[in-house]
Amino acid sequence: SIEGGCPMGHGDGGVRALLGRTNKDWWPEMLATEILNPNGPTNPYGDDYDYAEAFNTLDYNALKADLTALMTDSQPWWPADYGHYGPFFIRMAWHAAGTYRTADGRGGANSGQQRFAPLDSWPDNGNLDKARRLLWPIKQKYGKQISWADLFILAGNVAIESMGGPVFGFGGGRADVYEPERDIFWGSEDKWVNEGVQTRISPEHGMEVLEGPLAAIQMGLIYVNPEGPGGNPHDDAGMARDMRETFKRMAMNDEEIVALTAGGHTFGKAHGNGDPSTLGHAPAGGDLVAQGFGWVSGEEHGGIGEHTVTSGIEGAWTNTPDKWSENYFRLLLDYDYELVKSPAGANQWQPIDQKEEDMAPAAWDPSIKVPTMMTTADMALKRDPGFRKISEKFRTDHEAFKDAFARAWFKLTHRDMGPKVRYLGPEVPSEDLIWQDPIPAGKMPSDALVAEVKKKIADSDLTVSQLIKTAWASASTYRKSDHRGGANGARVALEPQKNWEVNEPAMLAKVIDTLNGLRGEMSLADAIVLGGVVALEKAGAKNVPFTGGRGDATQEQTDVESFDWMEPEADAFRNYVGKKKLAVKTEEMMLDRASLLGLSVPEMVVLIGGLRVLGANHGERGHGHFTKRSGQLTNDFFVNLYDMTNVWSESEGSNGEEYIAKDRKSGGETWRATRADLIFGSNSELRAIGEVYAENGNEEKFMTDFVKAWTKVMDADRFDLTWAKYHK
Ligand code: HEM
Repeated sequence: SIEGGCPMGHGDGGVRALLGRTNKDWWPEMLATEILNPNGPTNPYGDDYDYAEAFNTLDYNALKADLTALMTDSQPWWPADYGHYGPFFIRMAWHAAGTYRTADGRGGANSGQQRFAPLDSWPDNGNLDKARRLLWPIKQKYGKQISWADLFILAGNVAIESMGGPVFGFGGGRADVYEPERDIFWGSEDKWVNEGVQTRISPEHGMEVLEGPLAAIQMGLIYVNPEGPGGNPHDDAGMARDMRETFKRMAMNDEEIVALTAGGHTFGKAHGNGDPSTLGHAPAGGDLVAQGFGWVSGEEHGGIGEHTVTSGIEGAWTNTPDKWSENYFRLLLDYDYELVKSPAGANQWQPIDQKEEDMAPAAWDPSIKVPTMMTTADMALKRDPGFRKISEKFRTDHEAFKDAFARAWFKLTHRDMGPKVRYLGPEVPSEDLIWQDPIPAGKMPSDALVAEVKKKIADSDLTVSQLIKTAWASASTYRKSDHRGGANGARVALEPQKNWEVNEPAMLAKVIDTLNGLRGEMSLADAIVLGGVVALEKAGAKNVPFTGGRGDATQEQTDVESFDWMEPEADAFRNYVGKKKLAVKTEEMMLDRASLLGLSVPEMVVLIGGLRVLGANHGERGHGHFTKRSGQLTNDFFVNLYDMTNVWSESEGSNGEEYIAKDRKSGGETWRATRADLIFGSNSELRAIGEVYAENGNEEKFMTDFVKAWTKVMDADRFDLTWAKYHK
């Protein structure tokens, strides 16, 4: 969902670019290593390396013991506050996971992106370069058995455990990548959080909603500005609004917001005991000699230990910052607070008349007592009536707080891993959780059953178009970003998907009904995919593969609200554009969906070409249906698009969404098209591929490639098969 209000930085309500600002905009001098990417994969382990298999050979307990020892092994180049790195690693893990957003499933901890720009250099990730470097000896020791991505989260878990905090479990299996993910829109504004007041929700400037799919309030933040909206510590309502909105984008409700923030800030401290103007560049723009470190202090003492400046806020939240405790809510609720400035000049809140026993030890010398503090965001847990009720409940019921924190932390750090079958290791919790989108195990249908159901579908009154649309509707929700969606579970037959406009609810209901009457023992999920196979074979394809064994989810196993986020506002594969005005062009939405489906450029091209002639268009829309042999799997889409007898013009009043082809000689109308059709003729790279499919002699290749790409989409979510071998 890339829909939303007018993007920041344009001000004219115009259409923005899909990717917004990219690394090249921020750091023009960054070495362009990506020019080598076409020469081979960036993963140095190569194709034979199977991370999940390597993880399963790991001595997990030894790794945990090493991580536990690391927590208290203070290094002179970045001394541990209170002699314990635990809080620092919790913040690292939270910021690794906290970039996740529900709308497109991107962000999150699952590929170790915190190692790369822009994330490594976001102001909110200040000094986490040091946390990652502290982990290096352990990464080096265990090598390919543990990814950085898993290590970040496991270090967070071990940190919590080693300070006596509650943990719900850990699932490994996050494979690293070796380059920044370049498909993520992080925002289009040209200023970062600390460079001016550009807040993404600002009702006074007509910005009522946070632009989708973003989940942070300003560029360079994980969620909200800790000092208050746009740095204003007095905007209580705005603070709570920003917290709700940004956490909601990660599927977190009020209770989870309170549990997570309070639980996190039970540990550690904020850092602002110095002059922020002396700090050097972030890592991506850092000096060669800094060797990947950013924010190097220009002050004589080196800006480490007691002089560290990170957020600019200074102090601990509780009097026991290296232990799990009940002190956060006690201090928050029992004291009145006054606004003060940190030594670095940041707004923060200090308890009035704090008793000495409630003060925190100084991070560098436990014999010194210093006042505790709260950020403006913490104060919202006391000042917002909804949050306060939960804070008071957690204060009196510590067990409920512990359980809520442990569960919310587990969700935060595992939300982007997809189905539970993708979790590895000895600490995977047995309980099924609704946000894991559970699917009951399916049964592999016998060859006889497949043949029988296939024949029944072929003999039914279901058309090629209906079967193709239904199979596509079912499978194409898959997104490789967080491994949600897909055909397994047949959630297309459940709320909310069965009523999505893109799915043509009435048509869908009829197809599902008919399939339910024909499938016998076969799951509906399998029958829907098998329907696609039948349709393709009717359309002329041969040997269309089918792998059964999918299960059917129930409505109770389906979190309607979290699936709502996945509703496509446009789907170029079905030539569908919803009613909402989109912030990016239709063809960019096409690219975005293809990217989430894990498709290559040729796969996207061949799929669209084939789907058009099969009649997969939404409703009765005839756009892009460049064929006289409807329902046959032919390369007609490309042949006719590249036929110079046609001349194209924009349809009047269509606002660039509809185009008409006329015969050059007669002037008679020949075809109609959308942007998502014509882009295959106007864009030189898409055209280059489309031409291959239009060439004489490539009709067979077109068909084979289409079937391959189609099957890839149908099977994209079959982790039940591909990951089974890791669970022997
Ligand atoms: C530290 C803000 C949520 C865990 C900090 C710091 C700020 C901050 C400003 C100080 C950074 C520094 O100067 O070193 C916020 C805001 C949140 C939020 C505005 C959301 C509204 C969370 C959550 C967790 C968490 C959900 C984990 C569950 C921590 C920890 C530290 C920390 C452990 C201490 C790090 C250290 O001691 O080095 N947070 N935070 N925070 N945060 Fe949060």
